[in-house]
Amino acid sequence: MSSLKRGPFVAGNWKMNLGLGEARALARKVVEAGPDFGECTIVLFPPFTALGTVAGAIAGSAVGLGAQDLFWEDQGAYTGEVSAPMLRDAGCTYVLVGHSERRQLFGETDGTVNRKIKAALKAGLSPIVCVGETLAERDGGRTLDRIDDQLALGLADLPTGEIGRIIIAYEPVWAIGTGRTASPGQAEEVHAHIRGRIRESYGNESAACAIILYGGSVKPANSYPLFREKNIDGYLVGGASLDAGGFVDIAREALRACREKT
Ligand code: 13P
Repeated sequence: MSSLKRGPFVAGNWKMNLGLGEARALARKVVEAGPDFGECTIVLFPPFTALGTVAGAIAGSAVGLGAQDLFWEDQGAYTGEVSAPMLRDAGCTYVLVGHSERRQLFGETDGTVNRKIKAALKAGLSPIVCVGETLAERDGGRTLDRIDDQLALGLADLPTGEIGRIIIAYEPVWAIGTGRTASPGQAEEVHAHIRGRIRESYGNESAACAIILYGGSVKPANSYPLFREKNIDGYLVGGASLDAGGFVDIAREALRACREKT
């Protein structure tokens, strides 16, 4: 499978929200705004139960589909789990891995993140790998060390060339669902660091092409200033993605900043 192309990328993580009727309606509204997005990639991440419904609602449009998690085995006696081939079957091309809510509430570790990334890649899915520090880690001056650990362990022993199919999302835990966004400068520092690590491990070309998203209280009002930063390529949006108008405005603002950047 070929590498992803760097460009504005806006993902909506719906988390554990929306019944089927609401999911269909939200997806349709996003699709209807679609022609305005130009070169901006838009991907929706509904809960597992709504994947089929959203796949139907976005069929024939440029809007993509992803899942919020996966298990690393393909099939078998794993009650409650969903595998990468099943997600492909449901129409997904992306999957979130290692979201901080999975790490904090459900015991996800860098080791399980690594297994999930490999399973996603094997099935032809592009994983969006979430990394980020807690407030205690930031206050203790350990932000970049924490990111380094998550990258080194999460991306360990990847098959050659596969880095081009992985997206990294920097989501500071203290900014998620709190209304407290990282400043453009704070986010850029970490994004530049992540790109630097990709350069060291995989070379200049991989670093130049890597898509690095920011997540944590992204709204229409902060989309433009964040996207103006050199190493911010898009967003993983939580709460604001449940409102079609706000979500679409985030994408429009990102696109406006992108056009001024290049
Ligand atoms: P909020 O945008 O609600 O802060 O959530 C961010 C997030 O966790 C996206 O994955």
